[in-house]
Amino acid sequence: MGYELDEYEVPLGENGKAAWWTGVIYQVYPRSFQDTTGNGVGDLAGITARLPYLADLGVDALWISPFYPSPMADFGYDVSDYTNVDPLFGSLDDFDDLLAEAHRMGLHVVIDWVPNHTSDRHPWFVESRSDRVNPRRDWYVWRDPKPDGSRPNNWLSMFGGPAWTWDAGTEQYYLHSFLAEQPDLNWRNEQVQEAMFAAIRFWLDRGVDGFRIDVAHFVMKDPALRDNLQHPAPPRSKGHHDAHGVYRDLRSILDGYDGERFSVGEIHIDDPTEWASYYGEGNDELHMPFNFSLLNAPWDATAIRDRVETIEAAVPPGGWPNYVLGNHDEPRITGRVGRERTRVAMMLLLTLRGTATLYYGDEIGMSDREISPQAQQDPLGSRVPGEGRDGCRTPMQWDPGVAAGFSSALETDLWLPLGDEFAMINVAVESDDPASMLTLTRSLLALRKRIPALRSGSYLGIDGLPADVYGYERRSGSDRIRVLLSFTDETRMVTTGPGRVLLSTDSDRTTDGGGSIALGPNEGVVLA
Ligand code: NOJ
Repeated sequence: MGYELDEYEVPLGENGKAAWWTGVIYQVYPRSFQDTTGNGVGDLAGITARLPYLADLGVDALWISPFYPSPMADFGYDVSDYTNVDPLFGSLDDFDDLLAEAHRMGLHVVIDWVPNHTSDRHPWFVESRSDRVNPRRDWYVWRDPKPDGSRPNNWLSMFGGPAWTWDAGTEQYYLHSFLAEQPDLNWRNEQVQEAMFAAIRFWLDRGVDGFRIDVAHFVMKDPALRDNLQHPAPPRSKGHHDAHGVYRDLRSILDGYDGERFSVGEIHIDDPTEWASYYGEGNDELHMPFNFSLLNAPWDATAIRDRVETIEAAVPPGGWPNYVLGNHDEPRITGRVGRERTRVAMMLLLTLRGTATLYYGDEIGMSDREISPQAQQDPLGSRVPGEGRDGCRTPMQWDPGVAAGFSSALETDLWLPLGDEFAMINVAVESDDPASMLTLTRSLLALRKRIPALRSGSYLGIDGLPADVYGYERRSGSDRIRVLLSFTDETRMVTTGPGRVLLSTDSDRTTDGGGSIALGPNEGVVLA
């Protein structure tokens, strides 16, 4: 498929170079990265202590999942104060230290913003539920039952069961798209908008570089709260187009600050046009809606190419694509595609045109840990068997020692158990191994930094390859890089013409092109 090269412009920063957020973002789940207090839970000081690792790895930014005060019903996605730090994770001073230190090392910091819902213990909700005439009553979505006494509509919680909970004290239902402990804010109330944007300004004033926006498309609901229709009609409970206004407002706040302040929205919308609408007409909304289309793609050359090119076609002119292979809600890539294919997956993520978001631990090939139903920490896991997300949230594996270098606590006292393979799959062991996943990830990140075509060049899918090989060309000026990825357990001959191998997922590769290449099973190569 052909694209005109001038369609491919990388968003520029103030210095006239590619904006920092077009690079690689590393997601840190703070409970699981590094514990400095010995209580078995990670903290902000731990992240600061590990910043040299991230700088050395070669990522451009870190995104830290919520660390705000929270009763932890959903591990921080139930916020009870948007402008502070939960004592479990440290203090505002710890956050300021982290930010200053990250900036000193040239790393940008993105934090989570959870606008759709608060904790039920947030003082706003406590007031709201205290009395029907409380000034904050309208900050949340309260409704009477239907005349027959049933719930206001048929909407369901994402975490199972109805999206409405009865409040006996004030005899109305309140809406919660997730847990009952996570009541939805009423974004149609202007005071709510002001309060939530004040939280954004609080962090921008401190120097934060950007925000990852939790369930960004949920914020506005159908004004009449009508029942969801059956498939194929879209549900009315989420994704109401009035959310676009919220993100235009957010964008003008971000653009009003110095530097390149950034927004990326968690938007699970399958329809590519609707998904891309969150860039905004004229790119005046989110810098990017997260693109999750590779998360559930079959591991097949045609399917992956199709997903990539669907995104390439959907992103508006002046917009910038992005790819995600894992996060704190999904089974890890290693388990999804098999360890033998994880290296190609990493090459794919880090060589496509677009921002790559790398989930902590994926750079070393961590895999999910089976957590028994009795030991489930995740509320989703206890409510919907089989859906638990603990497996991908286990502590970062730093070394083969006690608690994998994550904590000084006993292994039995960690908030989640360590991954089974931590003695082999860890930063220390892999740093010394030229064939390790970590070495490959580092090499890919270094290559991406060094070669403008990989960082910001155009994308063009290559036709005429064996059916189970996916290849693309990245171009910038006269630089031309090709990437060939095998999706089969067999060897495939590929005619390449002139070109030499800059990097292979197979650390034993000795030949480097010469007109054609025997691509090994599940091998990926970058050719100059
Ligand atoms: C999406 C977050 O990624 C997930 O972890 C959380 O449970 C829900 N939003 C609710 O905030």
